[in-house]
Amino acid sequence: MAIERVGIIGGGLMGSGIAEVCARSGSQVVVHEVDVAAAEAAMGRIEGSLARALDRGKMSDTERASILRNIDISTDFADQADRQLVIEAATENEELKRQIFADLDEVVTDPDAILASNTSSIPITRLAAATNRPESVVGLHFFNPVPVMALVELVTTVKTADDVQERARDYAASLAKTVIHAKDRAGFVVNMLLVPFMLSAIRMYEAGVASAEDIDTGMRLGANHPMGPLELTDFVGLDTTKYVADVLFEEFKEPLYASPPLLTRMVEAGLLGRKSGEGFYKYE
Ligand code: CAA
Ligand code: NAD
Repeated sequence: MAIERVGIIGGGLMGSGIAEVCARSGSQVVVHEVDVAAAEAAMGRIEGSLARALDRGKMSDTERASILRNIDISTDFADQADRQLVIEAATENEELKRQIFADLDEVVTDPDAILASNTSSIPITRLAAATNRPESVVGLHFFNPVPVMALVELVTTVKTADDVQERARDYAASLAKTVIHAKDRAGFVVNMLLVPFMLSAIRMYEAGVASAEDIDTGMRLGANHPMGPLELTDFVGLDTTKYVADVLFEEFKEPLYASPPLLTRMVEAGLLGRKSGEGFYKYE
């Protein structure tokens, strides 16, 4: 049966983008947020992104209105009960996510519903183990900014049912995303390669080899990256980057995944990048 009713847990940077693309493809979306202020912030992010798309001629006014009609934001977890697919996109923290999966297991009534996580790094098996339906759990890892980035990583565990894998892949493909498949190892494909690169740039900056601007300009102009690695860390969020590094380090025990002291100190100081107004750079 086609997936028409989608739930998103967390309407931050990623959840708001995932809600936008699901609603754009015609799904009816309910985003769950922790309180009214967070719900309003989520709606603000979605409206801002739609305004940008409209300004750049990527979307008509009619399309924008229909996307907004397809999205509800709720602070009542019971509104997830009738969802056919739930994509968890809350803060990168295993304990929090395990609780959300346990709650979804209780609340979502459809036995065929798919429970997915957008985690950047946490093994899906550990989230699936918080439920009584591990065969229905997958990773659907979107990239930031979701409306623009063309990739979704589909992560399956040893317990994921074949039809769940197939339906999750078909749904992600219906969002006009290219889907790649990864086994359940921390960081999957992209972050296992991308995050050590970002951490290396932070170590280089910390060692005083070059300024932040020169490191970023070097990779933008010398390797044709759309953003330099420090700009990208600010864009992803330093808290999320550190958490991903910690999960990768715990899994592989390799120094290249260890969070550099500067990253740890900046997170402790609340310098989280764009979302807090300051990271390696300052933002308006
Ligand atoms: N819907 C549809 N299209 C949209 C849109 C929306 N809501 N918002 C913007 N767009 C379009 C714009 O119209 C523009 O299209 P054109 O190029 O055809 O004009 C395009 O998207 C780019 O948007 P902007 O012009 O606003 O931005 P930009 O050119 O400055 O590029 C960027 C911004 C896309 C973020 C680019 O800098 C980039 O690709 N950076 C790297 C991003 C990246 O690496 N992301 C991965 C992060 S890691 C991750 O996500 C995984 C993890 O787990 C941490
Ligand atoms: P974020 O900090 O922007 O947003 C997290 C949101 O989750 C916040 O709005 C918060 O209020 C909400 N939240 C926290 N606890 C919740 C709960 N119990 N129920 C509902 N909502 C809750 O973070 P983000 O960057 O959007 O990251 C979300 C997830 O996506 C993380 O797992 C992250 O690793 C992953 N991810 C992030 C990026 C990125 O570039 N930032 C890219 C891909 C994947």
